[in-house]
Amino acid sequence: MKTTRPAALPAPTVVLGVTGSIAAYKAADLTSRLVQAGVTVTVIMTANAMRLVQPQTFLTLSRQPVVTDLWDLPDWQPGHIALAERAAVLVVAPATANILAKLAHGLADDALSTYALSHSGRVVVAPAMNPRMWAHPAVQANCALLRERGVIVVGPDRGRVACGEGGVGRLAAVEDILTAVLAAIPPPAR
Ligand SMILES: Cc1cc2nc3c(=O)[nH]c(=O)nc-3n(C[C@H](O)[C@H](O)[C@H](O)COP(=O)(O)O)c2cc1C
Repeated sequence: MKTTRPAALPAPTVVLGVTGSIAAYKAADLTSRLVQAGVTVTVIMTANAMRLVQPQTFLTLSRQPVVTDLWDLPDWQPGHIALAERAAVLVVAPATANILAKLAHGLADDALSTYALSHSGRVVVAPAMNPRMWAHPAVQANCALLRERGVIVVGPDRGRVACGEGGVGRLAAVEDILTAVLAAIPPPAR
């Protein structure tokens, strides 16, 4: 799979949602890989993600302001609406059980979930959680609902998770998430 775009094309915008999973640090690598592939990346972090990784990491790697607060309004128009007008893809990586539930049921109680309801392009989610959480019928039902709606679910993979347990729940390889995001970007209009 080709993972770079010709330099002459306008850079597509991807919104990267980072949630409160121990795998949040891997989103920094994804940001860097997307930027190297010619994508403009705007990161939206949940409050719990910020307990695990600093916004500064994403600011430096993306060279774009990081959205951490729905109520931080630099302009007359709420930021999530303006962003939705130019974003091609929303990718949530890692996606907690909590954000999967919020996306499935249309909750909008923070910057990321509110943005998700404004976003009309493709959506990619990469779940990451403890294998028992992943196996829970509620999580499976939420993922099935998202898939039915056309959301691309990448992973999770089988392996050892941070708490020491083995099973399915590990964040998919960054390479696989990158490939799915780049494939979801529509070709430029002629
Ligand atoms: C150290 C730590 C690691 C966590 N890792 C995960 C995880 O990998 N997946 C998950 O679904 N929840 C995980 N959680 C729980 C979430 O942070 C919690 O459900 C939170 O409400 C998610 O909020 P958010 O989706 O708004 O970021 C973890 C919690 C802690 C304290």
